[in-house]
Amino acid sequence: MAPVPNPCYRFISRPEGFPDLSKDFQYEDSRTIDPDTVDLNGGFLTKTKFLSVDPYMRGRMDPGTFMEWTPGQIWDGFGISEVVRSEMPEYQPGDILYGYHSFEHYNLVHCVEESRARMFRRLENSEGLPLSVYLGVAGLPGKTGFYGLKAIGEPKEGESIFVTTAAGVVGQTVCQLAKAWGLKVLGSTGSDEKVKFLTDEIGIDHAFNYKTASTAQEVRKFGGLDIYWDNVGGEVLDLALLSMKQKGRIVVCGHIAQYNDQEKYGIKNTWEMVYKDVRMQGFYVFTYEEQYADEFYATVPKLVAEGKIKYTEDVTVGLENAGEVLLKVLQGQNVGKAILQM
Ligand SMILES: NC(=O)c1ccc[n+]([C@@H]2O[C@H](COP(=O)([O-])OP(=O)(O)OC[C@H]3O[C@@H](n4cnc5c(N)ncnc54)[C@H](OP(=O)(O)O)[C@@H]3O)[C@@H](O)[C@H]2O)c1
Repeated sequence: MAPVPNPCYRFISRPEGFPDLSKDFQYEDSRTIDPDTVDLNGGFLTKTKFLSVDPYMRGRMDPGTFMEWTPGQIWDGFGISEVVRSEMPEYQPGDILYGYHSFEHYNLVHCVEESRARMFRRLENSEGLPLSVYLGVAGLPGKTGFYGLKAIGEPKEGESIFVTTAAGVVGQTVCQLAKAWGLKVLGSTGSDEKVKFLTDEIGIDHAFNYKTASTAQEVRKFGGLDIYWDNVGGEVLDLALLSMKQKGRIVVCGHIAQYNDQEKYGIKNTWEMVYKDVRMQGFYVFTYEEQYADEFYATVPKLVAEGKIKYTEDVTVGLENAGEVLLKVLQGQNVGKAILQM
């Protein structure tokens, strides 16, 4: 086969605040690859099908951050692809893989890049789900909700939970698992359409639009919280601290309200944790991968196939739109899991 196009999407310069699409990223369509002859060097070659665009990517653009991107490098993140050729016995042509991908049409994974090769999982998909679901509720965001709720939230039937960014993928998963496990659920989100999804589709107990309603009033009205699932940080975390019940748990999952702010909000209400024995704990999804991954894959895809876990997706076609999709996510304009389809 003659060389075929292998476009990629690059990170060019570090944004201050929200990324500037005219200068911070670049779509490069002049690269090529010959899938038949490219040296696999003991690894494998895949053709990308879907890529996941996630809020944490903004953090990776700042210097000194965890898994920092360096200017000039190709974006990377979770994706789904099909094996084209392989020199690794565990992956065969035609296999569908979920794992850590470079944002390009073809991914060449050398087995010498051992840690990267280990980050791929062959999807059996016996439930016949659309593959993109394995980037959403049945992928990293779903795992985040599942692992975090089990390991840190320690939910018990009859308890109450408040979930921020409740209509996002992590939030949707947490809300639905919490309902399935017998909790009373309050969710906040940024539009009336998303509120409707939470109450009418997912059936949580109460949801509100934090842009038009007062979070303080809504949380007070709902009553004390056994669990606060924090996706936003800042002022909302401070407010939630005031409503925690005795021995409450705060699951610090993300701080999306702070990612683009140069000045960080200073939390004032931590004293509430002292006399109520409240535990606040951050967690990183991969820490719990070994402990919960098999249970997750045995549980969640089945619940999705049975319609017991619902989901929404925001799919955009074309790698060249990666930056625009990330900006949408950072501005709350996505409705459901933000996915790029090749
Ligand atoms: N701990 C971990 O290992 C881990 C792993 C994955 C993700 N996370 C975190 O989980 C959270 C949710 O991620 P996701 O993938 O499910 O994203 P998502 O909810 O699908 O998308 C982001 C959403 O955040 C909300 N948002 C954006 N800017 C905001 C702001 N300034 N203030 C308040 N809300 C804002 C918007 O929803 P609204 O319209 O509702 O505002 C937006 O749709 C993020 O904080 C992410 O960093 C943590």
